[in-house]
Amino acid sequence: MTLTPAATQDLERALADISGARASLLSVVASLTPDDLARSRRGGWTIGRVLEHVIESEQMYAKLLAHLCGRTAPDLSGPAVDDIEQVQQLLHHSRNAVLSAVDGVDEDTLYRLARVGHEEYSVLSGLENVALHDREHRDQIDDLLASQRARSAGSRASAPVTIRDAVAADLPRITDIYNHFVRTSPATFDLEPFTVEQRMEWFSHYANTGPHRLLVAESDGAICAYAGTSQFRTKPAYDTTVEVTIYCAPEATGRGVGPQLYTALFDAIRGEDLHIAIAGITLPNEASCTLHERFGFRRVGVMPQVGRKFDRYWDVAWYQRELGVKFAGT
Ligand SMILES: CC(C)(COP(=O)(O)OP(=O)(O)OC[C@H]1O[C@@H](n2cnc3c(N)ncnc32)[C@H](O)[C@@H]1OP(=O)(O)O)[C@@H](O)C(=O)NCCC(=O)NCCS
Repeated sequence: MTLTPAATQDLERALADISGARASLLSVVASLTPDDLARSRRGGWTIGRVLEHVIESEQMYAKLLAHLCGRTAPDLSGPAVDDIEQVQQLLHHSRNAVLSAVDGVDEDTLYRLARVGHEEYSVLSGLENVALHDREHRDQIDDLLASQRARSAGSRASAPVTIRDAVAADLPRITDIYNHFVRTSPATFDLEPFTVEQRMEWFSHYANTGPHRLLVAESDGAICAYAGTSQFRTKPAYDTTVEVTIYCAPEATGRGVGPQLYTALFDAIRGEDLHIAIAGITLPNEASCTLHERFGFRRVGVMPQVGRKFDRYWDVAWYQRELGVKFAGT
């Protein structure tokens, strides 16, 4: 029997879902340092152990799916996660085992329920669980990283900077800092540097009061970084959401300037009628992911390959956090 359109859609959706969840997990894995594998909450699992569990679960699902589809179970070796490359390889193997187990599945098999232990599974529910596991474990890894980094942030010295509202005279230096990343980095998806005149329209959306703020950090009298909140989307129901932006000049990164700017920025918008702050981060960007996680942002999804720059496609991770909750009229 061939797959009907409804079954085809179910299968395509499930396959797209496992592929999206895996892309998101892999992007977290790619951003790990070797030391990260050993990180854990006090008395808890290490990130390495969480990843072993992801691989073990997927291998289990690959065997289950092969069984449901009447195929020989794949022979997969037990995981022993020592380094990032090995994790990536094991994830690749177990994913291939899942995909080959369901390759060419027919409609009956797709939905037929089979009892395994105390649980009933179909091919479709097995695939859904594979995606679910990736998401759950990616979140666990995010949490482990965030708690560890929050601890290490407390002990790091920061470069002293003065933070103030941006004024029009700052625009040449702000444009300069931004253009550096336009030319050299996928952190921004702008492709051509701006002139100061072209940047005026962007600057005009900020004010010294209200929800859309632009702050600069000065070190020895020169601007070394800026950060701002701006309108997320134009439809009015989005007005309680802002998107954040932050750029440190290359020589000012890794010196704690970003955290000082964000502390001032979130103070500046406190009391505004805002609910959510959003950040879109092109992956990989370890420094930016760390900064946002330290400021309470959580990764809510990854859009694979949505930007093309420097002749390749880039994934964007979306982060968000709640701001002080205040409803108009309450
Ligand atoms: C992302 C950014 C705003 C973070 O601000 P920052 O002042 O550098 O933040 P911190 O100094 O607190 O560094 C944050 C973490 O990232 C690490 N880090 C900073 N710069 C880094 C770099 N270039 N490479 C690798 N790690 C870096 C720091 O070591 C720190 O981790 P640790 O505390 O565990 O050591 C800043 O690095 C930046 O402007 N980068 C370039 C532009 C950019 O990516 N903007 C964000 C677009 S979404």
